[in-house]
Amino acid sequence: MNVQNRTIFSHDNLPVLRGIDSESIDLIYLDPPFNSNRNYAAPIGSDAAGAAFKDTWTLSDVDNAWHGEIADREPALYQAIHAAELTHGKGMKSYLIMMAVRLLEMKRVLKKTGSIYLHCDPTASHYLKMLMDTVFGKNNFKNEVVWNSATGVKNNTKSRFGRGHDIILFYGMSASKFNVQYEPLSEEYLKSHYTYKDEHGRRFSADNLNAPGAGGHRYEFLGVAKNWRMTEEQAHKWLAEGRIVHQSITPGSRVKIPRYKRYADESLGRPALDNWIEIGALNSQAKESTGYPTQKPVALLERIIKASSNKDDIVLDPFCGCATTCVAAERLQRHWIGIDISPKAVDLVRVRLENEVGMFGDVIHRTDIPKRSEKLPNYRTHKHTLFGKQEGLCNGCRTQFPFRNMTIDHIVPQSQGGTDHEDNLQLLCGACNSTKGSGTQAQLIARLKEQGVLQ
Ligand SMILES: C[S@@+](CC[C@H](N)C(=O)[O-])C[C@H]1O[C@@H](n2cnc3c(N)ncnc32)[C@H](O)[C@@H]1O
Repeated sequence: MNVQNRTIFSHDNLPVLRGIDSESIDLIYLDPPFNSNRNYAAPIGSDAAGAAFKDTWTLSDVDNAWHGEIADREPALYQAIHAAELTHGKGMKSYLIMMAVRLLEMKRVLKKTGSIYLHCDPTASHYLKMLMDTVFGKNNFKNEVVWNSATGVKNNTKSRFGRGHDIILFYGMSASKFNVQYEPLSEEYLKSHYTYKDEHGRRFSADNLNAPGAGGHRYEFLGVAKNWRMTEEQAHKWLAEGRIVHQSITPGSRVKIPRYKRYADESLGRPALDNWIEIGALNSQAKESTGYPTQKPVALLERIIKASSNKDDIVLDPFCGCATTCVAAERLQRHWIGIDISPKAVDLVRVRLENEVGMFGDVIHRTDIPKRSEKLPNYRTHKHTLFGKQEGLCNGCRTQFPFRNMTIDHIVPQSQGGTDHEDNLQLLCGACNSTKGSGTQAQLIARLKEQGVLQ
C-alpha cells in the first residue's frame, strides 16, 4: 500500500484516488455532496468556522474528459447518466458524472474482500444506485440502509411528510467480510418476548429445552417422559444451575412442562436490520459537534466500520469533511486515510483525535498526489491490444493507419494524474497526437471539428 496510515489529503479526491494502489483498501465510506442545490458553511465561532462547500452542479463543474472516460470504461454507466439527464436535467447529469468518474477509481482501489458504503439522500439515491450497480456489480448489492437523520420537525410538512432519513447504499465485493451487529432489545420487545421474571427480577423467556447439536435422547425428566433434544446429564446440570423453569406455561393449564430460562440480559440483542433508527443524528448541542456542515455522528461510522472491517484493516473516506470516519476508525484500531478538498479537514481531525481519542501528533498531512507503487507493465506493451480494440482506427480522426504509424496517448494526461493503465491509453495517429498535446480528449475532438477533419 503506497499511502501511510493516518494520512489526510487536502486535495480534490480524484487525482488522489488515481494515485492509490489498486486493490489496497478494505472499506470505503463516502458522504459526498448530495446534489442538494445548497451551499454549506460552518457557523462563525465553531471549531469548523471557515469550512464551506458547494452542492450545486452545472456542466461547467465537469471536466469534459470525464464524459469520454466514463463512456469508454463503462458504456452502461454513461447510458444510466444519460437516462437521469432525460428525466432530471443537466444539473443531475453533471453531479452524476462527477460521482461516476470517482466511483470507477474507488472500485479499482477496493480489495476483492472489500466493501463500500455510499451515503446519500433521496434527491439522487435512485440514480446513484444505478451507477453503483454498474460499477460494483448488481450482485454485490447488499443493503439500502435507511438512517434516521432527523434532528427535529422538518420544514415542508404542510404538503407532504417531513423528510427524516438518509440512504446508505452498501455493496460488498465477492469475498467481502461481514460482522453481524446487534441492537439493544426495545422495552416493547422485552415485554412481549421476555414475559417472565425470576426471584431477582431478571426477565426471561421460557424456551424449548434444546442443547445445540444434541440428537434425541429418551428419558423421564421432571415427570415428562419423551425424546429430549439434550442429554440427561445436560438436563440435570441446567436444573442445578437454576436454568430450568417448571411451571404451567399456558394460562389455566395444569400441565407443567420444563423449559429453558433464556435471560434477556444475556441476549446479544436483535441483529441489526437495514433501518437504523436508534443511531440519532447530531444536533448542534451534541458534545461531538464541531459545527462542520453535514457532520455525521461517530456512532454511525462505528456501526459501518465494525460490520465491514476488522482490526488493522484500511478504511478510506474520500469526502471526509471533519473526519468523522477517521475518528471512528482510530477508536476501533483500524488504519485510515481521509481526503477532503477543504483544508479545514486536517485541522479538525487533529483537534478531534486529541479531544475524542487522546491521540497527539501522529496525523500525516499531504497536499500532493500519491504515486502508485504497483508494478505496471511498460505502457508500450499495450499497443497490440489497443490496435485490436480500435480496429486499426485512430481515436481522433477515425482514419485507418498502419500499426507502425500509430502512437500511444494517455487519455487523461500524465500531468493530470493519468496512469499507464490500459484503460487510460489509446492509439492516435502522429498528427492527432501532436494536436492533442497535453490537452484532453474533448479538446482534441473540438480541434478536429474546427479543422473540418471531423463532422
Ligand atoms: C457531506 S460532507 C462530508 C461530511 C463528513 N462525513 C463528516 O462527518 O464531517 C462532503 C465533503 O466533501 C468535500 N468535497 C466536495 N468535493 C470534493 C472533492 N472533489 N474532493 C474531496 N472532497 C470534496 C466537501 O469539502 C465536504 O467536506
